[in-house]
Amino acid sequence: MASTVLHSTSTHRARSVRGTQIPCFVFESHEELARSVAETVAALIRQRNSFGQKAVLGLPTGSTPQGVYRELIRMHREEDLDFSNVVVFSLDEFYGLGADSPQSHRRQMQQRFFQHVNIRQENIHFPDGTVPLEQVEEHCRQYEEKIQRAGGVDLMLLGIGRDGHIGFNEPYSPRRGRTQLVTLDPGTRADLANQFFGKENVPTQAITMGLGTILEARKIILMALGEHKAAVVRKAVEEPAGEHLPASLLREHPDASFLLDEAAAAQLSAIATPWKLGPVRWTDPLIKRAVLWLCEQTDKALLKLDDDDFRAHGLHQLLREHGPASRLAHRVFRWMMDTIVYHPAGKEPCRVLVFSPHPDDDVISMGGTLIRLVQDGHEVHVAYMTSGNIAVFDHDAQRLVDLVAEFNRRFGIDEEKSLQFEQRVLQHLRAKRPGEPDHPDVQRIKELIRWSEAKAAAAVCGCREEHLHFLDMPFYKTGQVDKNPIGEEDVQIVLDLIRRVDPAQVYIAGDLSDPHGTHRLCAQAILAALEELRRRGEPVPEALLYRGAWQEWPLHQIELAVPLSPRDLEQKKNAIFRHESQKDTAPFPGTDSREFWQRAEDRNRATAESYNRIGLPEYFALEAFVRWRGQPL
Ligand code: F6R
Repeated sequence: MASTVLHSTSTHRARSVRGTQIPCFVFESHEELARSVAETVAALIRQRNSFGQKAVLGLPTGSTPQGVYRELIRMHREEDLDFSNVVVFSLDEFYGLGADSPQSHRRQMQQRFFQHVNIRQENIHFPDGTVPLEQVEEHCRQYEEKIQRAGGVDLMLLGIGRDGHIGFNEPYSPRRGRTQLVTLDPGTRADLANQFFGKENVPTQAITMGLGTILEARKIILMALGEHKAAVVRKAVEEPAGEHLPASLLREHPDASFLLDEAAAAQLSAIATPWKLGPVRWTDPLIKRAVLWLCEQTDKALLKLDDDDFRAHGLHQLLREHGPASRLAHRVFRWMMDTIVYHPAGKEPCRVLVFSPHPDDDVISMGGTLIRLVQDGHEVHVAYMTSGNIAVFDHDAQRLVDLVAEFNRRFGIDEEKSLQFEQRVLQHLRAKRPGEPDHPDVQRIKELIRWSEAKAAAAVCGCREEHLHFLDMPFYKTGQVDKNPIGEEDVQIVLDLIRRVDPAQVYIAGDLSDPHGTHRLCAQAILAALEELRRRGEPVPEALLYRGAWQEWPLHQIELAVPLSPRDLEQKKNAIFRHESQKDTAPFPGTDSREFWQRAEDRNRATAESYNRIGLPEYFALEAFVRWRGQPL
C-alpha cells in the first residue's frame, strides 16, 4: 500500500506559524481551512483510487470538522469524488447510547456525511456504545484488529477539547493506550451539555481510540476553531508536552500538524507577542498591542512606562525605532483616548440597525449603547435573527399553555379548541425524550415566549415596537442544536431588511465562539449582504462588531468604547431581566454558571477597569466595539 499522504495546505491562504513545536498553519477563515483539509482527504482518496487501493480515514464527530464534511460532500457531487474505496473508523462513540439516539456519533456522522456520499456501509466502523460492560474489552480489541486488518489509518482528523483531549482521551490518559472505555471529565460533559439539552443527559462514558492508536496513523491533522480553543492550542504547541495534555503528544508524530483559524491561533507567541521571537515590522496596531502588553507585564499605567521597562521586557527594537518610552506611551494613550465615544452614531439623528442573533443578544451585549442611541434621538431598529426557541425549557412552555388555556376558560374563548390544543401540547411534552427535537407546536410556543421577552426588553431600552423585526431565519429552523449552513434565502432576508431600513450604521455580533455557532452564522449572512450592497454600488452602512455573552474584545482591538453610568447599567440589567426564560438556569449557559446579567455587568465593568489600569479616565462601565472593514470573521 502506498504510504505517502499528500498535503495541500499550500494551495490555500494559510500562513505557517514560527516558534511552535509542531507545524501550525493559520487560515483566514473557517471555509479556507475546511477546503484545505477536504483537499488533503480528497487527494488521498484519488491517489488510492488510481491504484485501486483503499483509503483509511480516522474521523471525529463534534462541531469542528463539519465544514470539512460539507466540502467533501460538495466534491462528491460536483467533482465526482468517489468514496467507494474509502474505509472509515470513527474516533469514538458515547457509551450507553444506541445508534438511533440523536446524539450518537454514528447517527450524526450518518446524517451529516455518510448518507450524502457513496461510501459503502460495510466500510463504516464505529465502536458500539451498547455492548454490555463485560464485553467492552473484547469489543475494543476487535476494533483495533479491524483497524489493523484495514492496513492502519492513513489519515486521522482530530478536533481538540478545551482540556486538550483528542478523541475522548482526557488528561492523563496513557500515552500508548489502545481503544478503550473511558470516563468523560466534568468539563468535557459541560461542553457537551448543549447538544444533550443539559449536562445531566450527557453520558458519563465513551469508547475511544487510545492515544497509541491515534499516534499510529500515518498522517494526523488536528483542527481547532474559535477563541475558546486558543488557550489550549497554545499550551499544546508551546508548553512542555506530556500526558497531562493529550494533544501535546502529537509532537512525537513525524507527520502531524495543527490547522487553526485566526481566533484559535490568537494566543500563540508568534501572533500574540511576535516581538519575543525576533525582529518585527512595527505597524501601528503592533505598537499598540506591544505597549498595552507592556502595561500588563509591568502593572503600570501608560504614562508611567519608562525606557527600562521596554528593555526589561525585550522591546529594545521598538524603543530604538519608535522611542523613547514617553513618545510611545503618548501615542498609545492618544489612540486609546480616541476610542471613547459617548455618541456612537453621532449627534445628528439617523437610522441604526442592531442585529441580534438570539432574542437577548442585543441587550446582553450592547444594551447600554442601545439605550444611548435611543436617547440620542436616532431611529433604532432591532432585527432578531432567530427565534431562539431551542433555549426554552419545557416547563416554561407548559406554563404558557396552562396560562392561555385558563385565560380562554375564564373569558369563554373557544373553550373546546383551547382544551384540545392544551392536551395535544402536553402530550408532546410528555412523550419527548431528552435531546429529541420538540414537536412543531411546542417549538412555536417557545418561539412566542422569546418573542414576547424580546419585545419587553427592547421597550425597556426605549425602542419602538414598529422598529422591531423578527426575521426567523431559515438556517436556524432545524429544531435541533445543529444548524443548517447559511443559504441564499437567509442572506436575502437580511439584504431586504437593510434596503428597507436603509441604516447609516449597523451593529453585528462578532463572536466567533458562541457555543452553537449561531452568532457566527448570523454574522456570515449579514456580511454577505453588505458585500452584495458593495458589489452593486448601493450605500453600505458603517458596521460595528460587538461581542456576546461569552467574550469581550481584547483591549488592543477595541476601536469604540461607549461609557455607561451606574444608571445606564441598571437600565440595561432591567432589560436583560425581561428575558425571564433565560434567567436563573438557562438551558445553554455553557461552562460559565453566572447569569447573563451578571456576565454583562462583570464584563462591562472589567473593560472600564482595564481602561483605568492603563491610566485612562476612570469609567464605571464600558461597552466595546470593533469596526468591520471587510475582514473575514
Ligand atoms: C469527537 C472527538 C472530540 C472532539 C473535541 C472537540 O469525536 O473526538 O475529541 O473533537 O471534543 O469538539 P468540538 O469540535 O465540538 O469543539
